[in-house]
Amino acid sequence: MNKIFSILKEKKSIPLDQFINISLYDKDLGYYIKKNPFGKNGDFITSPLISNLFGEMIAVWCVSYWEHLGKPKNISLIELGPGDGSLCVDLLKTFKQFKAFYKCLKINLLEVSNRLKKIQKNKINNKKVTWIKKINDINSGPIIFIANEFFDALAIKQIYKKKGIFFEKHVCLANNDKKIKFLLKKANVKLIKRIKSLNLISHGKTIEYPVEAIKFLSAISKKINKFNGGLLTFDYGSNVKRNQDTLQSIKKHNYSDIFSTPGQSDLTSHVNFVFFKDTLEKNNLNVQKITTQSKFLKKVGILERANILSKNVTFKEKANIFYRLKRLLDYEEMGGLFKVLFAQKKSKKFTLGF
Ligand SMILES: C[S@@+](CC[C@H](N)C(=O)[O-])C[C@H]1O[C@@H](n2cnc3c(N)ncnc32)[C@H](O)[C@@H]1O
Repeated sequence: MNKIFSILKEKKSIPLDQFINISLYDKDLGYYIKKNPFGKNGDFITSPLISNLFGEMIAVWCVSYWEHLGKPKNISLIELGPGDGSLCVDLLKTFKQFKAFYKCLKINLLEVSNRLKKIQKNKINNKKVTWIKKINDINSGPIIFIANEFFDALAIKQIYKKKGIFFEKHVCLANNDKKIKFLLKKANVKLIKRIKSLNLISHGKTIEYPVEAIKFLSAISKKINKFNGGLLTFDYGSNVKRNQDTLQSIKKHNYSDIFSTPGQSDLTSHVNFVFFKDTLEKNNLNVQKITTQSKFLKKVGILERANILSKNVTFKEKANIFYRLKRLLDYEEMGGLFKVLFAQKKSKKFTLGF
């Protein structure tokens, strides 16, 4: 029997965040632990896999930020959830062009999946790159935290508001233990207090509470406050305050039923960028603006770079460069749906890309 069915049979019901954590990260069943979900033959594709220019622009941004900091002798880059390692490979390729920066650089990767770690190690193969187990392992800076589609892969709780009463979404078995379904349980006082104090409630019935992301934002903020630096994050999400059910399951590049194949499909939710900004500011950081992926990449110079690259190449190669760029930049696609946020130390004001 699938482990998740036996857990549900034993426990009767579990909160949604526990279900997500088991489905994605359980050592025997977890989607990210067992599978390599990336690319054409996987379940989904991310920006670094669409075009190398994505990583190139982030690399240029990092070098500019380092210059803005006064070219410190040591600079740490921490990539959160590096997937198949593609972004790190592209970053390193561009960093090597900036020799003074490259000399000062060390890179740490934070990855929960041993299977993905192995793929990253094979692909990256560079002495500057080492893996850390937790944010607390970092003890020097300044630090640039980079996250692409990291926060949307972390477990959330959902609280449903009906006639003024709050219910927490749980997951349980149905149909003679053959199926999984949602179960609404009255939310406990502590949870209601917590979502109220976090200022998570606005219009709409489903309140999403990013339990895991909050822990990361707190640990990251502490390190930035201590060592200087910032967090640059890209994610599918909204920059308008709203309460909406955004949980979805993706399999073979299509939406799938959340419960039909636990452990076999990706589960993600949109990042609430307004809440992230609020939280980071409460943690004493400065977030000047939330922008779109399209605006960010254009401001860093992606179109100019694409034009340079497409000189002296065949028509087919040029078409390929711009086809990929369109996927990254189109407003109806990743360009508009993905938002970008940069949180830095309160006294600092680096604005490239925003
Ligand atoms: C949606 S993937 C994004 C991968 C990559 N950043 C990209 O853009 O292609 C999420 C990544 O975060 C990792 N991850 C999820 N939770 C994590 C955690 N708590 N600690 C470290 N890595 C985690 C996953 O294993 C995976 O590598």
